[in-house]
Amino acid sequence: MEENKNVDEHLDEHNYDGIQELDNPPPRWIMMLFYITIGFAIIYAAYFFWLDVGDLQDARYVKKSEIHETRYQLASQSSDEIVALTDAADIEEGKSIYKEMSCFACHGMLGEGNAIGPNLCDDTWLYGCDFQSVFNIIKNGNAAKGMTPFKTQLSDARIQKVSSYLLSLKDSKPPNAKGPQGETCE
Ligand code: HEC
Repeated sequence: MEENKNVDEHLDEHNYDGIQELDNPPPRWIMMLFYITIGFAIIYAAYFFWLDVGDLQDARYVKKSEIHETRYQLASQSSDEIVALTDAADIEEGKSIYKEMSCFACHGMLGEGNAIGPNLCDDTWLYGCDFQSVFNIIKNGNAAKGMTPFKTQLSDARIQKVSSYLLSLKDSKPPNAKGPQGETCE
């Protein structure tokens, strides 16, 4: 009996050869979900297709790759070629690059550090201890933190030399050395 009453309630007026239509709408919550998906689709399409605000996957891939390249691509050299040079002539050249590029303005004449940049002679490093990390920060910099990227001004070979020079300063203990920053390295 219950069931019948329910049927009556949904019975449509119109009658065709004695056949009547039952209008049985889906529950409200399903309809709500349905409208929400339509709303979402419109916003989604507007964001990605009509207004072009969002990047489609290809564009996004390109952007991410670029970020990855600038951040991690060390050099035209392969990473096992980027090792510290120990030749006195190379170190000497590294030293003149340090002067030439005005690294001293932010890191002190002897690499002792100053109000702007960190000490480059001590055994603490902000960007990692190994040679490649030092190479990488000089090459790619960290503009947000005030370290200039030098990749447009210095070739990889010259970055390698200036990095080697810096590592040769270890334990040089210059006067007015700035205190340790970053992780302590062996
Ligand atoms: C305009 C100022 C400025 C100049 C010029 C500059 N630096 Fe820096 N450098 C900084 C700052 C600031 C930091 C620290 C960034 C941070 O706090 O994250 C830094 C960080 C570094 C680091 C990482 C130190 C660490 O502890 O890991 C190295 C290596 C370095 N600089 C080398 C150089 C060399 C070599 C040159 C010249 C070719 C140079 N810098 C020129 C400001 C400068």
